[in-house]
Amino acid sequence: MDPVDTAARLAVPVEEVERVHRLAGDRPSAPLPAASDAPAILARLAVPPDDAAEIIAGWPDPGSPQWTPELRWLLDRSIALVRADLGGHGWLVPGPELPRDRGPAWRHLYVYAYLALVDVAMAYHRDHGIADAVSWTTLADLGRNLAIDRRMRGEGWPVMQSWLTLHIRGSLYELGRLQHHRAGTTIDLHIPDSGPLSPEAIDASLDQARAFFPRHFPDEHYTAFACGSWLLDPQLAEYLPEDSNIIRFQRRFELEPYEQPDGLDADVEVLRFVFRTLSTPLDALPRRTVLQRAIIDHLAAGHHWQWRRGRFPL
Ligand SMILES: CC(C)(COP(=O)(O)OP(=O)(O)OC[C@H]1O[C@@H](n2cnc3c(N)ncnc32)[C@H](O)[C@@H]1OP(=O)(O)O)[C@@H](O)C(=O)NCCC(=O)NCCS
Repeated sequence: MDPVDTAARLAVPVEEVERVHRLAGDRPSAPLPAASDAPAILARLAVPPDDAAEIIAGWPDPGSPQWTPELRWLLDRSIALVRADLGGHGWLVPGPELPRDRGPAWRHLYVYAYLALVDVAMAYHRDHGIADAVSWTTLADLGRNLAIDRRMRGEGWPVMQSWLTLHIRGSLYELGRLQHHRAGTTIDLHIPDSGPLSPEAIDASLDQARAFFPRHFPDEHYTAFACGSWLLDPQLAEYLPEDSNIIRFQRRFELEPYEQPDGLDADVEVLRFVFRTLSTPLDALPRRTVLQRAIIDHLAAGHHWQWRRGRFPL
């Protein structure tokens, strides 16, 4: 593998090819499921029909002309890179951002990597005594993200390709309304886009987690639930009613002092989660809900949103 040539053919920076090469080394990859099993697996992972059709059309069969040697190399080494960090809880970039409009192999390369690792993740879950139902619910965030990315016309994928490595490395579990992420001494909470955030649903999910982690990860000791999110920005209270779910969610947390997070722009994150676009001008965004109007008016007035972290005891 010549990194310069490979990077040119993949249309990505050479440093990113070198990073994959360095992290994956000659560590083991994992095989994809048989193409004939793909429809059933994609259905279990809640992949919408239009994405499933593309993924099946681009399947990396040994003779497929869509799969150039560079794409095959990247797929194989990206699988190895993620697999090497099984059980790890950090943010992991599985490889370079690809020009996805070049076809299904390019568009879904990191989906194929995820699919290759489903058996590995399931075995890791089983080693920890985790029920198959929890595993499949957790891993089905793939379908939810593909659906959102389609709504976002591909703008969401660069973050999602890293996000989904948490699920496939056994680091994150969906228990009821929330996703719970093993993160050192805290369980980090993530809120999937799946309907209102009612206090009752949160309470039930927290209770599930309080039983789940001591049972399945008895050697790990968590002292608090934590969250980093645009949802914890105290400025939202200037706009949203006191009894809204977001404000009630905020009240659970003690906030850490504000620090601008590295490489994360809260104004962009708010657009991602509230409008599912990163590129639409403010004056063309919908103003349907009180939150949408708040986000637009705050930015239009020259203010900024904050990404905040908070916690509360377990
Ligand atoms: C978190 C979430 C479930 C909260 O929704 P909720 O339970 O309806 O929240 P609230 O009760 O506080 O809503 C108050 C108002 O804001 C609106 N609102 C809340 N979240 C919204 C969103 N993501 N987009 C547009 N409007 C939203 C509600 O419709 C309501 O407005 P209305 O009275 O005019 O209808 C929702 O924002 C969501 O699905 N977000 C995407 C996932 C996410 O942001 N995760 C965190 C990533 S860090």
